[in-house]
Amino acid sequence: MIDIRLATIKDAAELARLNDLFNGEGSNTERAIEESLRSNENEIVCVAADGNSLVGHCCGQITRSMTRAYKSGDITDLYVGEEYRGHGVGRRLIACVENEFQKRGVSHLHISTGRENLAAQTLYRSCGYEDTSEYILDKDLPKVEYKE
Ligand SMILES: CC(C)(COP(=O)(O)OP(=O)(O)OC[C@H]1O[C@@H](n2cnc3c(N)ncnc32)[C@H](O)[C@@H]1OP(=O)(O)O)[C@@H](O)C(=O)NCCC(=O)NCCS
Repeated sequence: MIDIRLATIKDAAELARLNDLFNGEGSNTERAIEESLRSNENEIVCVAADGNSLVGHCCGQITRSMTRAYKSGDITDLYVGEEYRGHGVGRRLIACVENEFQKRGVSHLHISTGRENLAAQTLYRSCGYEDTSEYILDKDLPKVEYKE
């Protein structure tokens, strides 16, 4: 049985393994993921566990702006291992993150996904997300010396 729950620090190694599968090998280290789980209060991480192994994860980020009277939530990552797809795990992970967003006062949610990612688009629409007229643009800045 697949258990859907909030991540704990003990999930760092398994999350690093899943993150490599989703975002590419070496996207982040286990240590950095552990640190993020420990200290990033604006991030929500839900996991799908099959015994001691994780088979999926979903991350949400809480954002707040002085220009808005409400808190927003961005669902930034959603991944379900190939052999576990098509059984409602993705939908349950989204519900887990949404539930936590709600508890933390978030009232508007945002998700972006690839134009070609029809599986994700269908899933998000079936969870109540609506298409917008927004255009998403990205930019990389040159790295400068930075210490947290
Ligand atoms: C997208 C993804 C998370 C879906 O996870 P999943 O556990 O298979 O999804 P669910 O079983 O909860 O599906 C729920 C609904 O989504 C839709 N859906 C899921 N997979 C689909 C597919 N391949 N094609 C069309 N619709 C699909 C269906 O409406 C489905 O409802 P139904 O089963 O009642 O028909 C999974 O395919 C995945 O991890 N893909 C790779 C990573 C990715 O693309 N992440 C999203 C990037 S933002």
